[in-house]
Amino acid sequence: MAEFTLPKNSKITGKGRVHKAPAGATRVKSFKIYRYDPDSGENPRYDTFEIDLDDCGPMVLDALIKIKAEQDPSLTFRRSCREGICGSCSMNLGGKNGLACTTAIEDIKGEVRITPLPAMDVIKDLVPDFTHFYAQYASIKPWLQTVTPAPAGKERLQSPEQREKLDGLYECILCACCSTSCPSYWWNSDKFLGPAILLQAYRWLADSRDEMTGERLDALEDPFRLYRCHTIMNCANACPKGLSPAKAIAEIKKMEAERII
Ligand code: SF4
Ligand code: SF4
Ligand code: FES
Repeated sequence: MAEFTLPKNSKITGKGRVHKAPAGATRVKSFKIYRYDPDSGENPRYDTFEIDLDDCGPMVLDALIKIKAEQDPSLTFRRSCREGICGSCSMNLGGKNGLACTTAIEDIKGEVRITPLPAMDVIKDLVPDFTHFYAQYASIKPWLQTVTPAPAGKERLQSPEQREKLDGLYECILCACCSTSCPSYWWNSDKFLGPAILLQAYRWLADSRDEMTGERLDALEDPFRLYRCHTIMNCANACPKGLSPAKAIAEIKKMEAERII
């Protein structure tokens, strides 16, 4: 596992604030949370929030919602589904990328340190800027591309075996936990597509209905876009959905190699 990395251009120099647990709290847990508001002109800092676990839901997202509701309404983070489906609450929790809504507080020993996803620009507090990540996603044309017309009045069918090839790929929720745990992506994210986008690229290469395989492989055949992956495997360890982008990347490399031969 690579070392924990702070968000891009980040140095913690600001003095943090401490929010104590209410009097009479019985099971106190401390959360140390990265705070940064570029508009304020202040340096990033860590604030500490103490929470009574006997008065809080079990997940890290429950704690963040409680902190925002009761201790500091300016704390900023993304969330939507609370079910591990939308991918919006991805962040670094106790040194590991994950989803705040599916990470149990009790699984993080001691003080819970929370920062935005590593090596990304920060918009505010725990909200990273996904603009570049989404532009990379758009670049792989993540939709079904065909030349032959669809059968009249029918869907384009797949056999159960063809459909099975999409398992382990279609479940990706684009949370970017994998890409932001990949050292190659930290250093070359301007050119390397990173594990999440490459897994998505393979999702279309593996789809029996897609008819642009050659064009898709041409677009990936590049020393940076694809071949900056050095099989370090952080991506597979980081994925909260249990997917293996590294395996998908290996499949793309295999397809590229077989086509050259
Ligand atoms: S296997 Fe490749 S994509 Fe995954 S973390 Fe390693 S270098 Fe990054
Ligand atoms: S492969 Fe996993 S970690 Fe990466 S973006 Fe998809 S769901 Fe998130
Ligand atoms: S809130 Fe949707 S994945 Fe966590």
